Amino acid sequence: MRLLLTGLNGTLAPSVAEAAMAHGWQVLAWDRQAVPVHDTHWLQQARPDAIAHLAMGDEHWAGRLAAFAAAQGLPMLFTSTAMVFDAEPDGPHQPHDARTARDDYGRSKIRCEDAVLAAHRGATVLRIGWQIHPTRPGNNMLAQLDGWQQQQGEVAASRVWRPACSFMDDTAQAIVALLAQPVAGPVHLDSNADEGHGFDALVAALQRHFHRPQWRLRVHDDYRHDQRLAGGGARVPPLSVRLRF
Ligand SMILES: NC(=O)c1ccc[n+]([C@@H]2O[C@H](COP(=O)([O-])OP(=O)(O)OC[C@H]3O[C@@H](n4cnc5c(N)ncnc54)[C@H](OP(=O)(O)O)[C@@H]3O)[C@@H](O)[C@H]2O)c1
Repeated sequence: MRLLLTGLNGTLAPSVAEAAMAHGWQVLAWDRQAVPVHDTHWLQQARPDAIAHLAMGDEHWAGRLAAFAAAQGLPMLFTSTAMVFDAEPDGPHQPHDARTARDDYGRSKIRCEDAVLAAHRGATVLRIGWQIHPTRPGNNMLAQLDGWQQQQGEVAASRVWRPACSFMDDTAQAIVALLAQPVAGPVHLDSNADEGHGFDALVAALQRHFHRPQWRLRVHDDYRHDQRLAGGGARVPPLSVRLRF
């Protein structure tokens, strides 16, 4: 199987590439330095068997990829985010709940979700939470917490925020499984969905597990949101399989 993957210079896509190659798939990267995102001719020539669109970018690119996949009868997966839901109304959020984001990132992801599903009714719109990886730079919770400690001299964690989150390798495995057996429409993926750990407890568990004695944890209750992505079933293991709380 030839998997076209976008966003390979990013945080999550390298894990998806590893998981796909471990399944014997060939990974085709969309190199935006060489191929503009509107180049559908390149897409025809690449002859993918499936598309996983992980790159950021606008709804026009997402819609074009989905339209191509629909025309060719290919599986298409687009990674969206828990941030399509605002804290009001509070979660846990179900796949067909109204999307309430007010910030630019969440609104842009809503537009991309709509463009993908308008072009390809069988596409998977996969909403994920904050990703965790032992070493990867970028938008990786562990790396960001290291950054907070370095820059602010503390890791401030709300005990009334229940984040959506998963380990990156678990998300990557789930993405490969969803490409092999697609599910149409919005799908939720969250290792905290059933257990509902507060961010303070999660930070403390990460601190122990990844040996971060230098983190100075400050617990607060300034940000309140049950952000969990419910209704996703057991596509990823719960956090307690990876961490001790
Ligand atoms: N990491 C997380 O915790 C997390 C949480 C929730 C949802 N997600 C979603 O999962 C996907 C992957 O996340 P990520 O953390 O790997 O993202 P990322 O590291 O921020 O970026 C992924 C890639 O997006 C491409 N990109 C950036 N700006 C672009 C633009 N203006 N136009 C076109 N492409 C652009 C780049 O790809 P190339 O340079 O390789 O082309 C970049 O490497 C994203 O859709 C993100 O919204 C991630």
